[in-house]
Amino acid sequence: MSGIWSPDSWRQKPIKQVPSYPESNKLQTTEERIAQFPPLVFAGEAKQLEERLADVAKGKAFLLQGGDCAESFFEHNADNIRDFFKVVLQMAVVLTYAGKSPVVKVGRVAGQFAKPRSSDTEVIDGVELPSYRGDIINGIKFDSESRVPDPERMIMAYRQSAATLNLLRAFANGGFADLEQIHNWNLDFVSGTPQSEEYARLAEKITDAMAFMKACGISSKTTQSLRSTSFYTSHEALLLGYEQALTRVDSLTGDWYATSGHMIWIGDRTRQPDHAHVEYCRGIQNPIGLKCGPSIDPDELVKLIEILNPEDRAGRITLIARFGAGKVADHLPKLVQAVKKSGRTVVWSCDPMHGNTIKAATGYKTRPFADVLSEVEDFFAIHKAEGTHAGGIHVEMTGKDVTECTGGARALSDSDLGNRYHTHCDPRLNAEQAIELAFQVSKYMTK
Ligand code: TRP
Ligand code: MN
Repeated sequence: MSGIWSPDSWRQKPIKQVPSYPESNKLQTTEERIAQFPPLVFAGEAKQLEERLADVAKGKAFLLQGGDCAESFFEHNADNIRDFFKVVLQMAVVLTYAGKSPVVKVGRVAGQFAKPRSSDTEVIDGVELPSYRGDIINGIKFDSESRVPDPERMIMAYRQSAATLNLLRAFANGGFADLEQIHNWNLDFVSGTPQSEEYARLAEKITDAMAFMKACGISSKTTQSLRSTSFYTSHEALLLGYEQALTRVDSLTGDWYATSGHMIWIGDRTRQPDHAHVEYCRGIQNPIGLKCGPSIDPDELVKLIEILNPEDRAGRITLIARFGAGKVADHLPKLVQAVKKSGRTVVWSCDPMHGNTIKAATGYKTRPFADVLSEVEDFFAIHKAEGTHAGGIHVEMTGKDVTECTGGARALSDSDLGNRYHTHCDPRLNAEQAIELAFQVSKYMTK
């Protein structure tokens, strides 16, 4: 791709998935206001994440990326954030212990509000309305007023992201993530399940190791890395007007950064090399994720990597593969081989969620846990065969005891889905299923 990049050069390109705002004046003045707001993250943090991801690319660390499909205004509260963070810590502990290598923790959080849709409109009982595109754009309620895109929602999303990020930073550094607290991260409802026992055994081993280290003079009081963790944020950079308003120059280097989150990704539906989303992302220096679905062609993938990472910086690109159970072997080896041949450095991560969405007989969108596991297992096996590093997982999950995905140790069935089906968008793993997944992944890791 050629031409001079600027934070608004994407506006000259064809674009997919844009909402039609009725008042373009209000949209513009709102974007101008957001452009005055403080950045949510600092360039230095995004650079630090790139370094950590460079370790993943080199096979020396593992990426754990997870969170809601879509955050919502309604569910914004401290308990949800705390429970989500707890589950991430529990998963990270399981993976760190098994892999004996660092886990880079990245949330789909504090900015994950905009959703791509397969159709511009939705029809229910003969009534046709604009599709719901995420709380940053319009309302989920099925009435004509809610579905009108409202720029004011961008300001609400910004403020919610700031508050969420603030709490996450406090949790990560204020003592909550202290490894000596590991027993306290247990969630009430997890006790009594097979994973809770497996988790308790692991926590016991870590507590033991910590007691030994303490006797040797190393404790969370003396050593910061035992007492705190680094947690990064990410979201799909779909709503480019919002992203542009938060695009800022790093005063230290003169480089441009998206300051809406540490890492942003390009969705499978908006990754056309000559279109707006790729144009925007090529100019900002944050770590970039690229979703790779069944339709991506190996040559096109290499071309995208060249556009997005011309200097081949390790840690800049994370390829997030999402094909569906039973389909990984049809697609992934070709992509891995093409990237190997190109000599480019990437992180390979597995999204076992988006290729495994089905409609249950009861009408709910769901994902069978067995399919999720199967996709991850194939992902690991293929990387092993290709001699590449299975670098991470990307999951839709929550800290709550929802009933959105079937299966898992509790064998949730289609008829359980109605009990606590709370998602605004795609079905998420609940806390137990997320921890169960981490244990399974730790087994694939050490195989
Ligand atoms: N600082 C290390 C890390 O983040 C160790 C650590 C501290 C940790 N608290 C943790 C690891 C919580 C996992 C979960 O990896
Ligand atoms: Mn989703």
